[in-house]
Amino acid sequence: MTDSVAHADLMDSVYRRQRLIYNLTRKYFLLGRDHLIDELAARPGDTILEIACGTGRNLARVCERYPQARLYGIDLSNEMLKSAHRALRDRAILAQADACTFDGKAVFGVERFDRIIISYSLSMIPDWTSALRVAASHLAPGGSLHLVDFGGQRDLPAWFGHMLRGWLAKFHVSPRADIGDVLRQMSAERGTTAHMTPLYRDYAFYGVLQGPQQGPANTDAY
Ligand SMILES: C[S@@+](CC[C@H](N)C(=O)[O-])C[C@H]1O[C@@H](n2cnc3c(N)ncnc32)[C@H](O)[C@@H]1O
Repeated sequence: MTDSVAHADLMDSVYRRQRLIYNLTRKYFLLGRDHLIDELAARPGDTILEIACGTGRNLARVCERYPQARLYGIDLSNEMLKSAHRALRDRAILAQADACTFDGKAVFGVERFDRIIISYSLSMIPDWTSALRVAASHLAPGGSLHLVDFGGQRDLPAWFGHMLRGWLAKFHVSPRADIGDVLRQMSAERGTTAHMTPLYRDYAFYGVLQGPQQGPANTDAY
């Protein structure tokens, strides 16, 4: 069994029943997701991809906020995708795929996206740096990659952070302490910019990596 198939089986087993209460329960602790959606500033016709879209909760909000965008979602778990298909119907194109090996052209016939979201999922993907790099490689010129996930809890009492990390580990979730360094390195390699903002006293963070620069507008006269 490959690592990807084993992880898909694990995700299916975690979410087979959890998906039924996911949206109701997660709204209390997956904080910052609506902040990310507000910050997307997508334009009509933009392509927006959510990597690891889960139940489709974010894409449904994105659709309300940016009704003229074209939406795509992938997730490794077919169980989660059952909920996403039910929630989104024809509002988004969804597919089962691994974030670490995703190929937009092969899966959707789309090579580059204007906005890419990864929300509370890098903390569940063992090879999360590959997932980040694959996501960045799918950014259109002028596009941006938007992240929200658990932060370092540096501004919260130590006992809280300890308790939270212990509890998250039961769900196979590990906050990625060095994500800021990885984002900085990726932006330096690409000659673009990245920024990270702590949210709710560093309970969570919001990060953005800019895609390749848009080429100069064509001003050639006929
Ligand atoms: C905590 S849920 C987040 C769902 C959604 N993004 C949200 O914000 O509500 C994590 C999701 O990551 C998915 N996932 C985990 N590993 C993955 C991988 N390698 N590729 C794609 N999806 C993955 C899980 O199946 C699950 O749906």
